[in-house]
Amino acid sequence: MKLALRWHVLLIGFVLGTSGAFAADNPKPSTQAAPLAQRPGHAGIASANALATEAGFEVLAKGGNAFDAAIAVASTLSVVEPESSGMGGGFMATMHVAASDRNVFIDAREAAPAAVNPKDYLNPDGTPNRDTALKGPLSAGIPGEPAGLVWLAKHYGKLPLTESLAPAIRTARDGFKPDSRLVGAIQEEQQNLERWPASAAVYLPNGKPPVEGEIFRNPDQAHTLEQLAQYGDSGFYSGETAQKLIEAVHAAGGNWTLKDLSSYRVKERTPITVDYHGYQIITAPPPSSGGVAIAEILNILSGFDLSQMDQVHRAHYVIEAMRRAFRDHNDYLGDPDFVKMPLDMLLSPYYADGLRQTILPDRATPSSMLAPTSGQDPGMHTTHFSIIDADGNMVSITSTVNYILGSTFVAQGTGVVLNDEMDDFALVPNKPNVYGLLGSKANAPEPGKRMLSSMSPSIVIGPDRTAVIGSPGGSTIITQVLEGILAFIDGGDAQQVVAHKRFHHQFMPDVVNVEPGAFDAATSEALTRMGYTLKNREPWGFMNVVIWDRRSNKLDAASDPRRPDGLGKVQ
Ligand code: GLY
Repeated sequence: MKLALRWHVLLIGFVLGTSGAFAADNPKPSTQAAPLAQRPGHAGIASANALATEAGFEVLAKGGNAFDAAIAVASTLSVVEPESSGMGGGFMATMHVAASDRNVFIDAREAAPAAVNPKDYLNPDGTPNRDTALKGPLSAGIPGEPAGLVWLAKHYGKLPLTESLAPAIRTARDGFKPDSRLVGAIQEEQQNLERWPASAAVYLPNGKPPVEGEIFRNPDQAHTLEQLAQYGDSGFYSGETAQKLIEAVHAAGGNWTLKDLSSYRVKERTPITVDYHGYQIITAPPPSSGGVAIAEILNILSGFDLSQMDQVHRAHYVIEAMRRAFRDHNDYLGDPDFVKMPLDMLLSPYYADGLRQTILPDRATPSSMLAPTSGQDPGMHTTHFSIIDADGNMVSITSTVNYILGSTFVAQGTGVVLNDEMDDFALVPNKPNVYGLLGSKANAPEPGKRMLSSMSPSIVIGPDRTAVIGSPGGSTIITQVLEGILAFIDGGDAQQVVAHKRFHHQFMPDVVNVEPGAFDAATSEALTRMGYTLKNREPWGFMNVVIWDRRSNKLDAASDPRRPDGLGKVQ
């Protein structure tokens, strides 16, 4: 109580009367909520690759809706951006179905095979074996992406898969000019690709990485996609493709079975919804940690008016909220079909009230003082795209093969690189994974269990504007999406939201990763004096956002300016 009083009095002292970062550029929300049921009448798509965005529009022009367009975008990304996502990986989707005014969450996350053995991820001396966790078939979970696309077509789309997968099949067969990110990823992973002849055959044509701007083809992936288009689930999870996957995985020391493939199921889950200063945020539930963490952070921050704070104190309170949410992430979260999680507590405003009281107004809280429970490169992996169609259907999809080019293992004849998502489990309790995240029993590997994700595909509904938002970035997905949401709430347009400078704290290590330019010199000095260790970090994720302004009924789409090749487009 005393602490609360002191905190309130001091907070008033920090209020300097600055308003939201974009308020001068963009009109303030009206007090009258516009009806969400209004149709935009045109569509917006933002993705990490122009060919994928155009594939989405191609399918819309054939009479498809946002869900058909999502199938076209995701499958084209599997071909043109395999370093980030693809048929050998999985995705999570937060969606709004306009006709029924319903929000749904699709979990097409990878699952551990039945024969998973934690010892496979340990060296003889008991230390974590980073190679089996990240490279080769033992690092791969059973893919969810193909089943997720079939599910979208069957339950939400208007077109057959033969139509929605057609752009990807054409691009894989006829070829495309790889961008600098794909060429860079293949160069970076060349030695790993050379370990498996089928991987080298696809990604090192003539024994070398493809050349930026020269046509690159993947006819095997075109065939795999055709099987999926023709036979649906059984085109990947049984039959010819499944046989090729099992034979190749076994020959290279993996443990998948045909039953692991045929028993894979997409799960529909209830999205997490959180209210923050008049905005409703619809986001990812477990087995993503993203939505729980974003909700917890926003619940803590809802006790403040960030728009009235100077940059130092705004950053301070946001970092302290991030720190507390990541502590809980490490301790409690896992696959909801396997672990009981105290979600009622974690999502409760009362819990957030308690956590807020522990934030000192003028000092960083060392993570070591909070309780038990590490940051790495957010890199060129995972991808996010956002779609709003003419009817107001919305799709927010984050899709991944985990680390750059996943396991780098391609099953002979499939053209598909398998994920290395097993590293997202807490393979060794309290030892950091590739993103420096720690984990506990809740996220230990078990047969059929889905590994915890940070993917946070989100939809934000405000009084007048709606945003479809998400980002790649490993553990920084959560904080990048959070900062994008805050920039949107501050009045940012799509370009401003994706360009907004970012910072990240994940409890351990106890450092604030800062994008150069996020803080001016005076802010950096003030935060350092308050006890923060600031560390410059590059690169940051590839955010793709579509915003619907329901006052003017205009769409606005933007792709992250940090990297070339993305495209946000409205038509
Ligand atoms: N593989 C990254 C994530 O799911 O968080």
